[in-house]
Amino acid sequence: MLDNLNGDKRNLLIDIKCLYGLNHDSSKLLVDFFESDDVDCLQKFLIQSILKDFYLTKYQPSSKYRKSFLKKVISILESKNHEIDSEIYDSYISIINKQKSEINFDEEKYFVCCFLKEDMTKKPVIFEQFLSAITCGTTGLHIWPACYELINFIEKNKNFLDNKNILELGSGVGFLGLKCLNWGFIKHFFFTDCHGKVLKQIERNLLLNYDEKEINGLDCSIQDEDKLISIFELNWLDFDQNKNHINKNLDVILATDVIFDPDLIEPFVRTLNFIWSCQTNPQNLRAVIASTIRNESTYKIFIDQQETTEI
Ligand SMILES: C[S@@+](CC[C@H](N)C(=O)[O-])C[C@H]1O[C@@H](n2cnc3c(N)ncnc32)[C@H](O)[C@@H]1O
Repeated sequence: MLDNLNGDKRNLLIDIKCLYGLNHDSSKLLVDFFESDDVDCLQKFLIQSILKDFYLTKYQPSSKYRKSFLKKVISILESKNHEIDSEIYDSYISIINKQKSEINFDEEKYFVCCFLKEDMTKKPVIFEQFLSAITCGTTGLHIWPACYELINFIEKNKNFLDNKNILELGSGVGFLGLKCLNWGFIKHFFFTDCHGKVLKQIERNLLLNYDEKEINGLDCSIQDEDKLISIFELNWLDFDQNKNHINKNLDVILATDVIFDPDLIEPFVRTLNFIWSCQTNPQNLRAVIASTIRNESTYKIFIDQQETTEI
């Protein structure tokens, strides 16, 4: 469908589609997209490429996001006195009706589809997360800002993860690992977390993107190193319980937005030291920890503590 649209409008529609999949604001791009004499035709493109896209209808953004997206489209078209396609109106009304009947809007789960801009025919990375940052007593069912930052950093420095064994601490819904795996150069990715619901969500998200054959799942006691992915419980408060699962040939440890509770910093750093001590070649191991600094003194505890590690 996108191939039938030319030049700038095609690029704009791809950008809008990528932002829609991520549940990110595209208001400015929508204004530019509808800057044309042939708005009816552009509405059809928007409907076919986004509202009726196979992945975006099966794995939908949050109803809050879809409502604001359609509201923006409708307001742009109304401001130009254009007739609005009935499919756009119908979609908007059906979201409003559904929202009225929803009991707890904050506990809504929704999907994120992360398309590869350079190849829109490729299956996007798909995962599910909760709208609310803290759900079911955990922060792990929602993506946190430092995760997006580290993804942007890795996207520009991909070769430092090339053919590496990577372990992530506090993986949350697993977005970072899924993105790294999707770039296609990872030897093995180990997802870990402490919370049962979070671990189940990672497993569900992995199965949306990978075949079961490629994953050492939660119930597997012996890890097959030839598989691409492992997922297991690793609680920083109780880390040596999991020593059988720690791979001895790790190259990189990743963690995002895990420095937030002063009481967890020492256990987290001890976990880093423990993983280090399990390695055959500890000098090869690097750790990349991306943090949002919300409180300088909490972050300082981490900086002081991490000086005790050799990583
Ligand atoms: C703020 S969330 C960040 C999630 C994810 N890394 C991100 O950036 O989107 C913190 C994560 O650390 C995990 N976590 C908290 N305490 C932990 C512990 N004691 N052991 C292991 N993981 C823990 C939580 O379950 C959650 O997934």
